[in-house]
Amino acid sequence: MHNKVQDNKLQILGKLAASLAHEIRNPLSAIKLNLEFVKMSEINDEVRESINSCIEAAKRIQNLIETTLDFSRSSINDCVPQSLNDVTVLAIEIMSTRAKVLNISVIDSLDYTIPSVYFNKNQMLQVVLNLMTNAFEAIEKNGTVYIKTYSEKLDGNQLITLEVEDTGKGISEENKEKIFNDFYTNKKHGTGLGLSVCKMILDGFNASMTFESQLNKGTRFFVRFNPNNNGVTE
Ligand SMILES: Nc1ncnc2c1ncn2[C@@H]1O[C@H](COP(=O)(O)OP(=O)(O)OP(=O)(O)O)[C@@H](O)[C@H]1O
Ligand SMILES: [Mg+2]
Repeated sequence: MHNKVQDNKLQILGKLAASLAHEIRNPLSAIKLNLEFVKMSEINDEVRESINSCIEAAKRIQNLIETTLDFSRSSINDCVPQSLNDVTVLAIEIMSTRAKVLNISVIDSLDYTIPSVYFNKNQMLQVVLNLMTNAFEAIEKNGTVYIKTYSEKLDGNQLITLEVEDTGKGISEENKEKIFNDFYTNKKHGTGLGLSVCKMILDGFNASMTFESQLNKGTRFFVRFNPNNNGVTE
């Protein structure tokens, strides 16, 4: 559960992240500009490809930086109605190289008839990427991640759902209660903030996050939007 010390740590971390993001921005755009410059000279295809992936990676960091800065300014939360499918496709694209390296197949099944819902695209991208990253880390190597979007009726409400399922190691009963806690991690290099950040972002859209998991079988995360109760600013 949240306690005051952890809330405080989280706030400090938020500030740290924002100032770090700010400081990384300039050198990063210098790197990107220089890579673009090198690309214009006479180079072979192999080098070009490698420069291209550096540029892609730099763009990705830039995006994260902007998201972090957006997030720290996020009292004005620019949510617009849009499709969950677009942001999902983008996340899959971003993760595709890592998927290949780890021999993880990412299988999507997107319902293109789902209605738009309100969210901030960068923040939602961060949510999907966090869920996919956790899925990849649970698999480690050789497995499948299924990503779905669909409408479903739940407790009388028509909801729009994004599902991320993995064939990874699953979560023990004991750990199921802990995974949303700030700083809870069982990874060597984890911060234990990924899911807390997802929750915080989704709260801002009035969307929910739940999961089901079976140890040694896999895990399935659900993000649900209620179009009748989403993005309505009072
Ligand atoms: N798909 C999943 N399969 C198995 N365990 C998971 C999954 N997603 C989350 N977890 C568990 O929940 C914990 C918390 O996840 P969270 O994303 O908040 O932090 P993290 O992944 O450990 O660290 P970080 O996100 O900073 O890299 C993980 O350490 C892991 O034990
Ligand atoms: Mg994580």
